[in-house]
Amino acid sequence: MLEELEQLHEAALQQLAAANSGDDLDNWYKQTLGRKGSIQLLTRKVGSLAADDRPIFGRNVNIAKKALQEAYDARAQQVKMAELAAKISAEALDVTLPGRVQPQGRLHPITQTMRAIYRVFGDMGFQVYRSRDVETDEINFELLNFPPHHPAREMQDSFYTNTPDVILRTHTSGGQIRAMHEYHPEPIRVILPGMCYRNEQITTRSEIQFTQVEGLAVGHNITFADLKGTLTEFARRMFGEERDTRFRASYFPFTEPSAEMDVSCFLCDGDGCQVCKYTGWLEILGCGMVHPNVLRNGGYDPDTYTGFAFGLGPERIAMLKYGIDDIRLFWANDLRFLEQF
Ligand code: DAH
Repeated sequence: MLEELEQLHEAALQQLAAANSGDDLDNWYKQTLGRKGSIQLLTRKVGSLAADDRPIFGRNVNIAKKALQEAYDARAQQVKMAELAAKISAEALDVTLPGRVQPQGRLHPITQTMRAIYRVFGDMGFQVYRSRDVETDEINFELLNFPPHHPAREMQDSFYTNTPDVILRTHTSGGQIRAMHEYHPEPIRVILPGMCYRNEQITTRSEIQFTQVEGLAVGHNITFADLKGTLTEFARRMFGEERDTRFRASYFPFTEPSAEMDVSCFLCDGDGCQVCKYTGWLEILGCGMVHPNVLRNGGYDPDTYTGFAFGLGPERIAMLKYGIDDIRLFWANDLRFLEQF
């Protein structure tokens, strides 16, 4: 029996050495030291021993149990440490690795251009006034002195809605009327930015949607000299201190007199190049003194108030500034284009 005990002890130690997980250890414990384990089963045979041998056997069993329990505890500790080490290395985090680059958003080139425009006019005391994209024919045309069948409407082929006389604004100029109604009788200095919509043939130079920034100043004793000074200062801040401007007579129903402003070409300094078509000048905006009918429609008496207005196209300015030759790129949402700004 002692021999058998010794063999069991030996075998149990070998099995224990092979136990590599918590499950292995549990099984080993059950089969060895458990209630129905090999050692326990052996002790049941104690009755077959001679009475004198029983205490000796009993002592040896206790020694073996104690030794196995200690071996078990030691192995359990080893397995636990090994499992922990494996877990740590599996979840290893290398804090010295470079981070993954997150794609970063940026402002659309037109938003950037708009903001540059806001800054310049903001410094001159103009506030941003938001007007609506969906507009009535009355505000978009009639109150701006375009009577129903006036030929000047031809230049702004409109998108109509299902509601009669409600259109998508073809220009930001209608906002002048809304601003006047809101500010009357106070003096006004506002710029009105926003998207405009025209039923155009889409080409490299014209789109069915584009932005405009309108400007309006109304007050006492405002003259054409104020208009020229304001817009020339704008051109210099936008395109460089050395820029010259020139005003050419033009026609808009809502201004009288009306003009178009050119700025000396900032690419060739006025010598002539492809961008300015060898004229030395770039056309950048329309402007004029607010027509008396429009002042009246806005609630201002043209006998005591005067004003000037202008309208410019941020796409056109951005095209000139960055040398972009196709206006369709702005709203095509192609990241290869947008990421360049
Ligand atoms: N609304 C005009 C257009 O879309 C631009 C314009 C010209 C606006 C002269 C003005 C202005 O305020 O005075 O073509």
